Amino acid sequence: MQSMNTQPPLFKQICVIGLGLIGASLAQAIKDNGLSERLVAVDRHTPSIDEAIQHGLLDAGSAVLSEVVFGSDLIVIAVPVQAVQAVFIDIKAAMDNGQLATDCILTDVCSTKVNIIDAAKAVFGSLPVGLVPAHPIAGAENSGYHARRATLFVNHSVIICELPTTSNVAITKLRQLWEAVGANVMSMDAEHHDRILAHTSHLPHLLAFNLVEQLASHDDNLDMFRYAAGGFRDFSRIAASDPKMWHDIFFANESAIVSALDEYGVYLQTMRQLIIDKDSTALMGLLGRAQAARRHFGHMLASTPYTDTSAMSASYNITPSNTVLGTIAIPGDKSISHRSIMLGSLATGVTNVTGFLEGEDALATLQAFRDMGVTIEGPDNGKLTIHGVGMNGLKPSKTPLYMGNSGTSMRLLAGILAAQSFDSVLTGDTSLNKRPMERVAAPLREMGAVIQSTGHSGTAPLSITGRATVGKPLQGIDYEMPVASAQIKSCLLLAGLWAEGTTTVTQPEVSRDHTERMLSAFGYPVTVDGNRISVTGGGQLTGGDIAVPADISSAAFFMVAAAISQNSELTLTQVGINPTRTGIIDILKLMQADISLSNETHVGGEPVADITIRSSSLKGIEIPEHLVPLAIDEFPVLFIAASCAQGRTVLTGAKELRVKESDRIAVMAEGLQTLGIDCTVTEDGLIIEGKGIEGEGIEGQNSNVNNSQPVFGGGHITSHHDHRIAMSFAIASLRASKQITIEGVETVNTSFPGFAELANHIGMSIKVDNAAV
Ligand code: S3P
Repeated sequence: MQSMNTQPPLFKQICVIGLGLIGASLAQAIKDNGLSERLVAVDRHTPSIDEAIQHGLLDAGSAVLSEVVFGSDLIVIAVPVQAVQAVFIDIKAAMDNGQLATDCILTDVCSTKVNIIDAAKAVFGSLPVGLVPAHPIAGAENSGYHARRATLFVNHSVIICELPTTSNVAITKLRQLWEAVGANVMSMDAEHHDRILAHTSHLPHLLAFNLVEQLASHDDNLDMFRYAAGGFRDFSRIAASDPKMWHDIFFANESAIVSALDEYGVYLQTMRQLIIDKDSTALMGLLGRAQAARRHFGHMLASTPYTDTSAMSASYNITPSNTVLGTIAIPGDKSISHRSIMLGSLATGVTNVTGFLEGEDALATLQAFRDMGVTIEGPDNGKLTIHGVGMNGLKPSKTPLYMGNSGTSMRLLAGILAAQSFDSVLTGDTSLNKRPMERVAAPLREMGAVIQSTGHSGTAPLSITGRATVGKPLQGIDYEMPVASAQIKSCLLLAGLWAEGTTTVTQPEVSRDHTERMLSAFGYPVTVDGNRISVTGGGQLTGGDIAVPADISSAAFFMVAAAISQNSELTLTQVGINPTRTGIIDILKLMQADISLSNETHVGGEPVADITIRSSSLKGIEIPEHLVPLAIDEFPVLFIAASCAQGRTVLTGAKELRVKESDRIAVMAEGLQTLGIDCTVTEDGLIIEGKGIEGEGIEGQNSNVNNSQPVFGGGHITSHHDHRIAMSFAIASLRASKQITIEGVETVNTSFPGFAELANHIGMSIKVDNAAV
């Protein structure tokens, strides 16, 4: 199929040498994409050439290079590594006798690179200006001309080695060719390429061949293979590849493969010894780290979040419903889950966690501590076992610590890492890398931290220099926080655990106090004097058990759901009601919601209760500013409640909402207006004209409530990658007249995995559409 390309072809004549899987696939892709005026090939196996000419793939072909090469401006060498030098000899002869221009672009597709350069040097003396060694990282189970596929390279990486001798034209044109056949082109120097491939491709193939050889040489080999389980099948799959090719590659990349093999031997011995020594903690640590690393790298390679590799871009299609009923358990508290990992890792002894939130944000924290050498078993149904390494037991991570979407992970970890002896880098997803980090970096610098916000305008990636380089420990400070932020407070208190002297933070308003509570629970003295909180460096944390209560911020969606709908009643069991988090209850009560608490008790140093909420006739209010930090994450869904209330609701003093996972004032206003709500954005808040109407005073339960009229229309909402925006507009469907579609809901997994299922369980109608990207 000839493409509709109207551009002139990139090349006049491309000559492909070797019509095996890679050469023939590239030839087909060149033909299909119209990338060359003429296409010729050389292959010793003449039937392939004849067929390719018959198929119309080639304009000419031969077993001998000199017969077809004349006029080529690109030669692609697609023969086995060991045969490349002989091809160079033929090419040089063609250049010497004027058949080929000396600046003709020469490239190859071999999986080793240093030896290709050495072969070119041996033949040409100095490297030709057109030589650009390359390696498409693509393949298939089958080989040969007949296995060719024009799409073989689509979305695969092609590594090109930009040699100092290569002309810019050659590099640019080769890049354009690979990009035109759908590949992602990256450049790397040849030594680095060979070292990486030795570890990631050549070593695994060598081990697969070796294991099959080992099993096959047993006397009872028939039984071995007859009863071989899936593990053997998976591990040995690649030993079915072409022995001649691998024979050549093992010799061609000898030194890098031998050193990868030596390193492998060391790791194997370590594992052997752990088994002999019955060192269960260390073996569990190693296996857990490897499993998590496999997952982590799998996610990195696929650029997908931690909890669902298929849902890269998901949407909710919601059909309006009227009533929600039931008794439900909400997942664990996000803030407390983060802190359980941090303090559990730094404690001495083992910490058992139950109720841990298996959402992406908390999993990012968990992964970071694994990356720093902490053995963490789980999560298994919310259960974790953390083998604490003590205050000075963290190890440097080999890679930048990836915090995903989680501001809490990044800001709290910045405090911990600023005090460690080693250097660290913290990075996150696109949304996190836009959020302000100077708010923690600046006070940490006052403590003596060396920390750079290397992104644009005080943003991540954060680069933190270890104390071993700086030469002295952090110093305690007395810091007046400009905003009531639990993240800034926690960051500085955590840094203060290693600082000389006392670190005191003063907050302008009360913010959530989970860090202070958990430090005390781990036996670390914390002094609280009104809004002044202090810790003195040099203490120890002692591991223990932590039961994480249900997250009131997640419960908030269902509180509002029951309040705004008709004939509804929900009981949310054992939700955290820490007084620094109950702003949502206070505000809903001020709006005259019907809320009651029962079964009040304490779980792991935190108060919890069952929360029951019924259909309510909500009234618009002016939200008291002191409640803002106590309900900071709940405003998106409170705006939904305000839209259903009678009269106007005014929020002020909430500028912080503009720097959450999205600008929650602007983004919520945009969505509310789409659904027909009249609202006005102010610098630090929002004014919402509620559309609720007076109840009719009918006899019976909730007789003064009239929640039957829709207040929202239908429409398309985008979440701006903000989990709480997505969930808030889902709740709006309980008072909508038409279908609501919400785009970008994959981020719901950061804080509330299973939200849609739970919502449907109590009577809502959310259809989740996953569009894998
Ligand atoms: C959090 C504190 C709050 C909150 C965030 C979690 C925490 O942020 O918005 O979701 O766990 O400390 P600020 O402290 O920056 O307001």
